[in-house]
Formats: sequence, structure tokens, C-alpha cells
Amino acid sequence: KELVFSGVQPTGNLHLGNYLGAIRRFVEMQARDAQCLYCVVDLHAITVWQDPDALRGQIREVTAAFLAAGIDPKRSIVFNQSQVPQHAELAWIFNCVARLGWLNRMTQFKEKAGKDRENASIGLYDYPVLMAADILAYRATHVPVGEDQKQHLELTRDIAQKFNTDFAAAIAAQGHEGGFFPITEPLIGGPAARVMSLRDGTKKMSKSDPSDNSRINLTDDADAIAQKIRRAKTDPEPLPSELPGLKERPEADNLVGIYAALAGRSREDVLREFGGAQFSTFKPALADLAVSSLAPIAAEMRRLSADPGHIEAVLADGAERAEAIAQETLDAVKDIVGFVRRR
Ligand code: AMP
Ligand code: TRP
Repeated sequence: KELVFSGVQPTGNLHLGNYLGAIRRFVEMQARDAQCLYCVVDLHAITVWQDPDALRGQIREVTAAFLAAGIDPKRSIVFNQSQVPQHAELAWIFNCVARLGWLNRMTQFKEKAGKDRENASIGLYDYPVLMAADILAYRATHVPVGEDQKQHLELTRDIAQKFNTDFAAAIAAQGHEGGFFPITEPLIGGPAARVMSLRDGTKKMSKSDPSDNSRINLTDDADAIAQKIRRAKTDPEPLPSELPGLKERPEADNLVGIYAALAGRSREDVLREFGGAQFSTFKPALADLAVSSLAPIAAEMRRLSADPGHIEAVLADGAERAEAIAQETLDAVKDIVGFVRRR
């Protein structure tokens, strides 16, 4: 059976990349009748400094974005990572499965730690192991994420694989057939797996870019969205009518990809319509589409934010349901590893 898990960090400035690369695809998975768990990963957020009051607001905001985008907290389990202690507990056991050499290869750590690596938190280094624990605490089979998470999901598969082989005898003795953890499938793809900055088509759209014009925030109003698209960097050529014409044109490629993702069409199909058009024609069409897709979500986020009690009740209910599943996994893992459980 399909079990879907994904997470978003409450680190502020949720943007169009988060929506098209992740959150909107969470809603699609929910529609496919899979059991879905969607997690606000605050333990991951604190691997870099977060102001405590801001963090509280950001946790509520990501939850509101999930609900506003169409995640139904009755059908899916929506919860906050730190409310389910099994994530951190399983992460410790995985710390003893994962190898130093595997983590040393993680490119996101190198990017985020930057030059001053001695001063990065141990949590930032260990981040991918906690992510494996998030996923495998539910023995999730599918994980929808943006392209930037590909390497982390490969590590999750390596951890599951090594646990299954290291403990093969104990796993068989406990009566689990075919390995204990599934080898999780990443779900990465579509025209918006990697949405790029509006100011520089070679950099990904990011929450932490100092320029607010580089991204469309989920909380932007119609005027802000239209203005950011109007000011988006482009080259002087008209749009090509076929896909190879987007090569070496990162900004054009990005805007066409955003249009395609918002419209639920392919890049090819968008170029069939707009091939030969100038950006002065394409940008207003893109702005209209972006506003009509995003404005209702922003409005619903504002409405939900007025009632933090409701958001917190959703998270509490989700945590209770998530914990029931994760506890079963942890009980089995403790038996497999050889711990003596309290009965
Ligand atoms: P984060 O904000 O880092 O927790 O990311 C939440 C989700 O959004 C993850 O699945 C990311 O892969 C995805 N994501 C973040 N930035 C982008 C982007 N620029 N394009 C596509 N997906 C993204
Ligand atoms: N690392 C992910 C990101 O930055 C967030 C995340 C944490 C996640 N745990 C996860 C995504 C488990 C998918 C599954 O976007």
C-alpha cells in the first residue's frame, strides 16, 4: 500500500517553489487516496538559528499554507515534528547506522555551512539522518519533494537498506518478511521540480534570498505578484516555439516552467501557444495565471491565521494520529536492535 510522507521547514517566506515543487503535489497525492502524512519540520528548522517567537509564527504559517492549498486534515495527517518524539528517537538509532562517509558527501550541508564549517551546528550536519527518521518512522513508500532533496532521499534509501541487511536475522526472527523498512521512492518531477530565482535563472528560488523580488511569496497580494513578474529578469529574444530553444536561456526556461506548472500543462505545450511572443506579451499572461492561482490561497491563509487555536487543534490531532503509527515502528525497531522494552 502507498504511504506518502513529506515535510516543509517553518523557516519563513514560503514561496512559489515550495508550492509548485512540494505543497501542491501533496494535495495531488491526497487525491489519489493514499495515506498521507504532512509534517511541519521544526526540529530541522533549528539546525540554523531561529528566533523563538518568529518560529512559533512560522510553524502556524506553514500549517495554514497546507490547509489553504487544499490538504484536508481529516484525510491526511497534518502535524508538527517536535510533537512526535519518535522522530528524534529513531534518528539516534539511525545515527548508529549511517556512516560518516555518507554524510560527508551531502552537498546541502556544504552549501549551508559555507566557509565557516567549524561553526556549523552538529544538527545541520545530522539533518539528513533526521529526515530519514521522519520518513521511515511511518515506513513511507513515497516522498514528494523538490529536486534539491534528491540526495537526501538517496541517503534515506541507503539507511533503510543498511538497517535491513545489518539486522536481517533479527528482522526475520521478528516475523517481518522482505526487510523491515521499505526502500522509499522519491517523487520529483514535473515542470516545477526546481523553480529558479526571478532575479537570476541560475539560482534556485529560496526563502533566504535577501532580495524579496527574487521570489513570489505565498502571502504576496495580486499587485506584488504582478510587479515581481513584470520586473523578472529576462533576455531580449522572443520565446522559442520548441523546447531546445530554451537551452542556455535559464530565465526564459524558468518562466515557461512556472507557467506550465500553474496551468497543469507541459513546457512544450506552452511554447506551442507562446512561441514567437515577446516577454511583453508573455509576462502579463503569466501574471494573470499566477494571481488567479495564488490569490485564493493567500486569502485563505489570512483567514486561517486569524484563528491560531484552530491551527493548533489541527496539529494536536495530527500529532496524536502520527504518534500511534510511529510508536508501532519504534517498538518493532527496539525489538530488532536488541533493546529490552518496558512492558
Ligand atoms: P524547505 O522550505 O527547504 O523545507 O522546502 C520545502 C519543500 O519545497 C521541499 O520539498 C523542497 O524540495 C521544495 N522546494 C524548495 N525550494 C524549491 C524550489 N525553488 N523549487 C522547487 N521546489 C522547492
Ligand atoms: N529537508 C526537507 C527540505 O528542506 C524538509 C524535510 C524534512 C522533508 N524531513 C522530510 C521532506 C521528510 C521530505 C520528507 O525541504
